[in-house]
Amino acid sequence: MSARGAALPDFPWDSLAAAAARARAHPGGIVDLSVGTPVDPTPAVVADALRSAADAPGYPQTWGTPALRETVSAWYARRRGVDGVDPDGVLPTVGSKELVAWLPTLLGLGPGDVVAHPPVAYPTYDVGARLARARPAAAGTVDELDELAAGLAASGERLGLLWLNSPSNPTGAVLDVPELAAVVRWARERGVVVASDECYAELGWDAAHDTTRGGLVPSVLDPRVCGGDHTGLLSVYSTSKQSNLAGYRAAFVAGDPALVRDLLAVRKHAGMIVPWPVQVALATALADDAHVDAQRERYRARRDVLLPALRRSGFRVDASGAGLYLWSTREEDCRTTVDALAGRGVLVAPGDFYGPAGARHVRVALTATDERVAQVPDRLADLAGPTA
Ligand SMILES: Cc1ncc(COP(=O)(O)O)c(C=O)c1O
Repeated sequence: MSARGAALPDFPWDSLAAAAARARAHPGGIVDLSVGTPVDPTPAVVADALRSAADAPGYPQTWGTPALRETVSAWYARRRGVDGVDPDGVLPTVGSKELVAWLPTLLGLGPGDVVAHPPVAYPTYDVGARLARARPAAAGTVDELDELAAGLAASGERLGLLWLNSPSNPTGAVLDVPELAAVVRWARERGVVVASDECYAELGWDAAHDTTRGGLVPSVLDPRVCGGDHTGLLSVYSTSKQSNLAGYRAAFVAGDPALVRDLLAVRKHAGMIVPWPVQVALATALADDAHVDAQRERYRARRDVLLPALRRSGFRVDASGAGLYLWSTREEDCRTTVDALAGRGVLVAPGDFYGPAGARHVRVALTATDERVAQVPDRLADLAGPTA
């Protein structure tokens, strides 16, 4: 393996192969709740938009058209409670995983720089730091950041980028305005760029975060968080989950226009361009709220089946107030839980994929069809219920 390959972690899903085989062998077939990949059809309004732009002989703009960037700005105002996103500070990306993996490199970080991410987190924040030859470090709260900063003062390293993820993959925890504001204040005092990965923001379940009940998952660009000043801040968003568009790779980053201009300069040279039909589909998806609301209700119905079934079977479900996952524990090693569920034909992701702090949880995704989800209560029925 090359030196670079060796510096990257093993692809964690490989370690799930035996449990997956066991779940597939169930007479009723597998209920796969392990990967957060959408399973419902791409909305017709978006697919039609993609088709309408199929004739694309010329190169598209890396920056996206002004119309697309204005659509993103209007989306923040309408859906996220954020006025004043400068269209010059918007940039389409080839899905958001690409940006997560390359942001440290695009920002010019490297050896001697540290990239912080939540202690239990989507693994690509760590990968992105390694690709830049920077050092990944787990820290999310102000207390954890203070501790990290004290260590850096001794090592001579510099914190260059701080990732937030709200709602979180895998925990479904939401950072509310005071928590976001505290982290932004901390980072600003130290000149650290904050990138907030918000790709589950349209999927709020708790009253405070459910848009159908007047709630909102706050963005890092929310004026209550940053005082309306987007300097040093990036909000990362994707239509993969809200619009069943993971196959299109349709996402964007928005915030500080100066930072976005820096990213754009590198991305133009590197050919990191969103294809024209996808740019058209992205703008269409962001302008149409009806399909997002319908998809949210599909997930809500699946959650309403899975959550009580898990609780009846002795699971405690932590956080999970928003997003596509139920962060669940039976107070045992996560691999034991994965095996118990695989034996019943249900595949879930072990929490240790997301960091050592996740070792006693499993991540149960809401991304299976209604027919598959409906199988789960019966399959779990013989698991011991709560002991207390
Ligand atoms: C937290 C988080 N960020 C980013 C992504 C990547 O999404 P995409 O590349 O489809 O936009 C995912 C996908 O699961 C995710 O969970």
